[in-house]
Amino acid sequence: MFWFIAEDNAYYHNKKFLYQTLSSYTKLDLESTTPLNTQSKNKEFENLSTTQLLINPTLADIQILFKNPFHQCFIIVSNNPPPKDYQSFFSIKNLPNKYGILTTQEYQSNVPESKALENRLGLSVIDSPFTLQDIGGATALKKYTTQLLRAEQQGYKAKGIFLVGIPGTGKTFFPKCFAGELKRMLIALNLSQIMESDSPILKLNSIFEYLHQRAIDYPQEKFVILIDEIEKMIGNATAKEKQMLGRLLTILNDINTPACEYKFNAIFFATANDLGSILANNPEFLRRGRWDELFFINLPTHEYAIEMFEIYIKKYKLDFALEIMSLYEIFAEIENKYQKDNTIANRFPYTPAEIENFCKRLDFVKKAEGENFKREDIIECVEMIIPLTKSAQDGLNKMVAQKELFIEI
Ligand SMILES: Nc1ncnc2c1ncn2[C@@H]1O[C@H](COP(=O)(O)OP(=O)(O)O)[C@@H](O)[C@H]1O
Ligand SMILES: [Mg+2]
Repeated sequence: MFWFIAEDNAYYHNKKFLYQTLSSYTKLDLESTTPLNTQSKNKEFENLSTTQLLINPTLADIQILFKNPFHQCFIIVSNNPPPKDYQSFFSIKNLPNKYGILTTQEYQSNVPESKALENRLGLSVIDSPFTLQDIGGATALKKYTTQLLRAEQQGYKAKGIFLVGIPGTGKTFFPKCFAGELKRMLIALNLSQIMESDSPILKLNSIFEYLHQRAIDYPQEKFVILIDEIEKMIGNATAKEKQMLGRLLTILNDINTPACEYKFNAIFFATANDLGSILANNPEFLRRGRWDELFFINLPTHEYAIEMFEIYIKKYKLDFALEIMSLYEIFAEIENKYQKDNTIANRFPYTPAEIENFCKRLDFVKKAEGENFKREDIIECVEMIIPLTKSAQDGLNKMVAQKELFIEI
């Protein structure tokens, strides 16, 4: 029993194209078959002895089908996956679109490929403009990834890196910079979209099938795959999440080995803010060996914070502010105001995202105030950017408590 999901209208309008494709997948000769007319009144499908083709059957059609003794082979072609209760009866496959990722109808209406990927597969393809130079601090992570690349050139097969830590510390940013640095395509999975779909497993499979196909078309291409905020996919213990976890673990275990059903060259990055739910429900995800390395990204050290400020002072051209107040004085202002609430020892109270935000705000105020920009404006910016260390102290402490499991940076 085959169930083919076909989104391309060509399958419904071009009989020859449909039959050829189906024959190549099923190894059945379908030339003499006529699709059953599921619109007809007689839905008993009696006296069927050969292969039968059904196009877009309704749930009622499928129910009737399953009431019959099915000694015949059914091939179903539909826009949708099988109804839930029937999924286990079918071998399910997505039929490829006529124009690669684009369906005929999308091709004809000039839908861009990136849009189609987003809608269809739940992934974004990002051509990242960032490089490792855009990252302040994170020295251990930068060093590790550089080593990984050198090892890769000597035949080492990397699987992936797991990044966990405080929001705004660069967990999403780092893979973007890594991909940009290497000029590799960044594929970000949209986990909410995948999990909300009727069949998340099929969706996940089609992503990997797509990458597999791409690797055939462009054998030199290497990917960075970002599974961002993975707790959205496996944070709970629902049946759906357990199933997803199983599938993902199989792929992670096998990727870049001959055992893998998919062949493409990729390094995975997975990130999580909240490790609590994963540790409670799916600890196997973090077992040693699953990932090449696990990093906990903490608040920046004083030294890292300086690097980050320097990056954003340059980016937003903030030298005018430094003429009024030195970086040393700005740091003192921030630390005076917020260090007492910061329970994380020896770390700067702002996250990198907050440092960036602070600098962005200086740029904004300067543009708004022009010549009137003064020392008080800088101090007001410090007051406006209230760090998570103050506003979400308990949450941060819980996260930091998990850092023992990881290499801290
Ligand atoms: N180490 C860093 N150096 C410079 N900028 C950073 C760094 N980490 C984060 N940022 C800035 O902060 C923004 C938010 O970071 P993000 O990666 O989204 O945080 P997270 O995913 O950890 O919540 C980034 O887009 C980037 O502009
Ligand atoms: Mg993030």
